[in-house]
Amino acid sequence: MHTQTTIPTGSKEEIYRELLPQMRELISGESDIVANLANVSALLKMAFATISWVGFYLMKDGELVLGPFQGKPACIRIAIGRGVCGTSAAQAKSVVVPDVRAFPGHIACDAGSLSEIVIPILSSSGVVAVLDVDSYSLSAFDETDRIHLERLCRVLAPMFESAQIAK
Ligand code: SME
Repeated sequence: MHTQTTIPTGSKEEIYRELLPQMRELISGESDIVANLANVSALLKMAFATISWVGFYLMKDGELVLGPFQGKPACIRIAIGRGVCGTSAAQAKSVVVPDVRAFPGHIACDAGSLSEIVIPILSSSGVVAVLDVDSYSLSAFDETDRIHLERLCRVLAPMFESAQIAK
């Protein structure tokens, strides 16, 4: 159950500071992982005008499969090690790409996308998903995004311990 979500305003830092408690409230009391990831995608898209696409790829049978997202239809399956998402999953590390044209192997689901950040979600069994955020602007994401999105993903990680994700 949740009440109305207000759109956070202010600097990037201020927006993230408002977002995290909003996200906690949105997902609290709900164990359905798809529902929660869908709402988290919506929350991020709503909060930042710079975001063109935001969503999750879920680790299933050794590859990344498209999960809940906001934005244009996207590539469905990504092999580990491929593209920005697959690189982040392979290294279990966040990847910030200021200009996707300079990233070897970048997978262009939307030709308009110019910069991207991908954050892995880590559970006790390793990488269980990645959060992918794209922008039509160059250099839209920086250390502030990395730090706050990593925090956000750490809050989401425990959900995956108990979740049954359909294969
Ligand atoms: N650009 C990503 C693919 C996913 S889309 O951006 C939604 C990548 O290179 O992994």
